[in-house]
Amino acid sequence: MKLFLDTANIDEIREINRWGVLGGVTTNPSLIAKESSDPDRVWKEILAEVDGPISLETTELEADAMYEQGVELARMAPNAVVKVPMTPDGLRAGKRLVQDDIRINVTLVFSPAQAILAAEIDAYIVSPFLGRLDDVASDGMDLLRRICEIYQVQGYETNVLAASLRHPMHVVEAAAAGADIATMPYAVFRQLVRHPLTDIGLETFLQDWEGLQKELKEGA
Ligand code: G3P
Repeated sequence: MKLFLDTANIDEIREINRWGVLGGVTTNPSLIAKESSDPDRVWKEILAEVDGPISLETTELEADAMYEQGVELARMAPNAVVKVPMTPDGLRAGKRLVQDDIRINVTLVFSPAQAILAAEIDAYIVSPFLGRLDDVASDGMDLLRRICEIYQVQGYETNVLAASLRHPMHVVEAAAAGADIATMPYAVFRQLVRHPLTDIGLETFLQDWEGLQKELKEGA
């Protein structure tokens, strides 16, 4: 499973990219708005920083306008992936973009039926939102498992991207469910690496090492 960052903040992206585990980035209009900067500049910086797929979201609602916007976004760089919403217009625009060999990410997916539609237009990525389902007392992980199962049974090649992840166990369970990609906020990425026993173990190892150095120096 590839690990993506769900952010438009270039400092967060650069930091995690240095770890060598960053497979790509997902952005959405809310994340772009948080940066209070020109969206084109923000997208270009991210596209240049990370080698993997970078999702850039359309904001037009009508199919023709969404398609035109998608073409423009795709032109920004070869690693750009165009996000379209799961709406009838999103499907129409998405299908045209796919026919132009542009990779698309169908976003705001909350049901297996919607995921089937995304696969039927040959989307590169489908993005079920797990955390937002959990927020309304529904089971986001159950949705992800059902989508992975349906895609396997049907032989769909669309990549399943677990989105709206809120904590490390979401990431672990998404991997067990068979998701192709998990996208997460910076804070969750950092939580993945931390374990108190790692910190305690490292501290003990270093103390013992220093003790040995002292012993050898005194014996010399
Ligand atoms: O980028 C799409 C998705 O991951 C948004 O997550 O936390 O706003 O529900 P969230």
